[in-house]
Amino acid sequence: MTIEPTRAAGFPVRTENPHRSGEPRRVWVLNGVNLGRLGTREPDIYGATTHSALADSLVALGADLGLAVEVRQTDEEAAMVRWLHAAADDAIPVVLNPAAWSHYSIALRDAVAQRTADLIEVHISNVHTREEFRHHSVISAVATGVIAGLGVEGYAAALRFIAARPA
Ligand code: DQA
Repeated sequence: MTIEPTRAAGFPVRTENPHRSGEPRRVWVLNGVNLGRLGTREPDIYGATTHSALADSLVALGADLGLAVEVRQTDEEAAMVRWLHAAADDAIPVVLNPAAWSHYSIALRDAVAQRTADLIEVHISNVHTREEFRHHSVISAVATGVIAGLGVEGYAAALRFIAARPA
């Protein structure tokens, strides 16, 4: 959805996304192991938002930002690796929550290292305030950047960053 700038008093002005020439840019939000259980999984840590509610809100935000957002989740590492290869082949920016794989999966890191577009690593919780084994991510060094501890808002922040980047 595009909201044209308006000079009407009292109305917020939203300028058109500069990249919206023709088709909206594709962005994939890829969620790893156990994140399909958001909403019921340790809500004190991960919040009450379900994965499907999160997906709906990110698709809607993407439409506002001029992005065609697709949200996927898998508990299978091989499936995630295949998605990362496909994103690299088509230069699709990715918002990735590698979940527990962040902390040990060299296979995922090697797939992320092949990226040909921005890839933002997102963690819902602040992993640095939690158990020590969560303090290190093998993904971070090959990501564009990392967002942690903002709750599910972190995904929205990542989409806004990508929307503002040159295509
Ligand atoms: C997580 C943090 C990881 O340590 C954990 O294994 C997850 C979720 C987060 O979003 O905060 O599954 O990536």
